Amino acid sequence: MKDCVNIGLLGVGTVGSGVLHVLEGNAAEIAKKAGCKIEIKKILVRNKQKAAQLGKKYAVTDNFEDIVNDPDIDIIVELIGREHPAKEYIASALEHGKNVVTANKDVLAKYGKELFPLAETHNVDFMFEGAVGGGIPIIRPLKSCLAANRITSVMGIVNGTTNYMLTKMLHDSMDYDDVLREAQEKGYAESDPTADVGGLDAARKLVILASIAFNTRISLDDVMVSGIETLKLCDIDYAKELGYTIKLLAVAKHDDEKGITVCVRPTMLPTSHPLAGVNDVYNAVFVEGDALGQAMFMGRGAGSLPTASAVCGDIIDVARNMVHKSTGRINCTCFDEKKLCRLEDMLSPFYIRLHAEDRPGVLAAIAAAFAAQNVGIKTLIQKQSVGDKVAELVLITYHVSELAMQLAVQTLKGLPVVKDVCSVIHVEDDSVE
Ligand code: HSE
Repeated sequence: MKDCVNIGLLGVGTVGSGVLHVLEGNAAEIAKKAGCKIEIKKILVRNKQKAAQLGKKYAVTDNFEDIVNDPDIDIIVELIGREHPAKEYIASALEHGKNVVTANKDVLAKYGKELFPLAETHNVDFMFEGAVGGGIPIIRPLKSCLAANRITSVMGIVNGTTNYMLTKMLHDSMDYDDVLREAQEKGYAESDPTADVGGLDAARKLVILASIAFNTRISLDDVMVSGIETLKLCDIDYAKELGYTIKLLAVAKHDDEKGITVCVRPTMLPTSHPLAGVNDVYNAVFVEGDALGQAMFMGRGAGSLPTASAVCGDIIDVARNMVHKSTGRINCTCFDEKKLCRLEDMLSPFYIRLHAEDRPGVLAAIAAAFAAQNVGIKTLIQKQSVGDKVAELVLITYHVSELAMQLAVQTLKGLPVVKDVCSVIHVEDDSVE
């Protein structure tokens, strides 16, 4: 029986150093849980200063070939991040018959389709719990604990940067530019925050979640993405007044007849919804299954130790599988080909804020534009005056299709009495008809 599992670690940045810390600090308990010792055999590190420092304790190399060709290495843990060369390293590791653990959402979202078959061919484990939601267990729950369910929806707050920013906007009435600057100063937002605030980071995570939840390959192109860059403080305030909280929500839904909807966008949630209370840098994923009902997984979605917790959990699982000669048990679960939902079948209520002339007959013209697309209005409030005889109007519609809403907005923009359609925001609220 195997008494030691050896790791080749690629990268010792934020997460990699967390993994070293956890494996070292909890070594005795981890060995008992895994059924064997887990040792770091070699570390790939390019930074010479870091290499010199780590070299006092570990074997280090700046050459990936030293790791992939080492016959004693059982698991390659890829924590370099980004697409390249991480994808090539993962592919090579699998081709060399090494088990792979990674937290790399960029690679999985784009190259999962070609990497899973390599793991299958070589009968090795390919695990990635840390790729979505940092330390929150969600991949394994979907693949294992909830495997008996037909999953109908997965909704998540999966980007900590934007959740921190939205929480600040709501609680401290800070506007977008100020809150972004503060988040950058505190190190919560990167100096180039585009992938976070634009929704791409959340979309990558959603691609992974939806593919697993619905057992069909979802790609980034399938996801409708809009970020928080254009969100205004007044929309957050109006949402609050109407009983909602705005979150950057990653939503994946499956309907047997209509197909799959996958979107990342600012969304209004009733303040009573469990996701509405998930604040600051916290992440959460809310899952609905036919047998399970509803469940929410919440925790720290990024950071050194939380992500290391997920990565080390994967390492322990691979070690257990090695001890029991059962690697490759759970591989790609995309065995179906499900269709995507059409725009005309995607239904939700919408919040709309617009500026229009403040005179008799204007509301009738606006109502007619909505009626022409069969868009029913549930709530209409005339807010403040925003200029000489210009009023700000806020509306919530009943459930209408994405397509009908797009057409209604187009018509509204063409009306001479409408000065601006300032915001159109999805509402996730089952209590609205
Ligand atoms: N940038 C991500 C976030 C963490 O803000 O949640 C890494 O996926």
